[in-house]
Amino acid sequence: MFRSFLTLSMGVALASASGQALASPDAEALHRTATAMFSPLPSYVAKEGNPKNDAKVELGKMLYFDPRLSQSGFISCNSCHNLATYGVDNLPTSLGHRWTAGPRNAPTVLNAALHTNQFWDGRAADVEEQAKGPVLNPIEMAIPGEDLAVDRIASMPEYVERFEAAFPNEEDPLNYDNIANAIGVFERTLTTPDRFDAFLEGDLNALNEQELAGLQVFINQGCVGCHAGPALGGQIEARFGVVESYWEATREYIGVDQSTMPMDVGKFAVTHKQDDLYVFKAPSLRNITRTYPYFHDGSVWDLRDATQIMARVQLGNDMSDEDLDALMAFYGALEGEIPAQALQLPILPASTSETERPTMR
Ligand code: HEC
Ligand code: HEC
Repeated sequence: MFRSFLTLSMGVALASASGQALASPDAEALHRTATAMFSPLPSYVAKEGNPKNDAKVELGKMLYFDPRLSQSGFISCNSCHNLATYGVDNLPTSLGHRWTAGPRNAPTVLNAALHTNQFWDGRAADVEEQAKGPVLNPIEMAIPGEDLAVDRIASMPEYVERFEAAFPNEEDPLNYDNIANAIGVFERTLTTPDRFDAFLEGDLNALNEQELAGLQVFINQGCVGCHAGPALGGQIEARFGVVESYWEATREYIGVDQSTMPMDVGKFAVTHKQDDLYVFKAPSLRNITRTYPYFHDGSVWDLRDATQIMARVQLGNDMSDEDLDALMAFYGALEGEIPAQALQLPILPASTSETERPTMR
């Protein structure tokens, strides 16, 4: 897949070198090229085996916002993936239980269900499997065990009823898997259609001249080799630093003292294969203007810098100011609309005298 995209984009690069002026891209031709590489966002990302119903979406939203899924009673999924800030915390790396800083930047939950796998190193298959991690992670939500999470939720009668409604054919629906299934179905609703979708769907006026020029640069430069599909990313894993060392190339941009940061080995930590050293998932670029700071370590705050770094370390190019201007404009067209339903805070079930009290321990 990776290779075929690169070949495709090189073909386009040749076409443009032979006369296509950057300043006035042909919207029709670009539309044809783009629809072969990208596709519009769906309104829901379905998964077989975890069917959607309204009760499950609402339950998943409640669990997503419920800080009682953390040991301290203070941290919810929304603490680090704040839907009011496009599903991120805008911190270099997240703060979890007892304000412990984790090792990586929190990616957005928006459109994440479309990714072929989850986490920067792809270690979870889908959003359901992913959701089981943070609740128990000692530096995230820090609940000491699955049973404790289930007991705390089951101590609230309204939750018991809501699990019965959300999983109508199950005998004992309130279990840890279904906590994750409900959160997963909610996350599957979090797609954010934007003007680029309107363009892909055939509205050739949806993007202005400069945004079209940016799309052309994105294709011609080969960004599309790794950032393709409906989310413009989330499908391909690649070494960070194909052409140059990431750390060497980014020294001038990075706002932190690199010597204090251990270098993240990426997927190597999961597979221990030499080929996976410094391999990370190419993230989605939907809503990229909002999901700063950038990269797995959150080391770069400025999107223009992050873009120039990408061109240098992944492709060996130094991008012109004109190309960067165009790309920045194109990113603007990728800023989408968060579903209204997700932005409305749920009223959470009341605790009872049975509910285990939160603790900072
Ligand atoms: C303390 C902060 C924190 C909390 C709380 C938290 N997350 Fe995350 N989340 C992260 C970080 C950091 C990563 C990236 C970790 C990695 O890749 O190793 C991540 C990764 C993810 C991803 C993967 C996205 C992608 O593009 O690969 C999803 C989805 C997600 N979290 C959803 C959730 C859900 C659902 C909850 C609640 C059950 C939750 N998170 C709780 C910080 C947090
Ligand atoms: C060979 C694959 C590859 C190519 C080509 C590529 N990228 Fe990336 N991109 C990645 C990977 C992998 C990451 C994640 C790096 C990390 O943080 O570890 C990434 C990260 C990014 C980020 C930061 C996203 C975030 O949420 O932190 C931006 C912006 C970006 N790329 C834009 C581009 C642009 C623009 C181009 C073309 C000039 C491009 N990329 C070319 C693989 C690629």
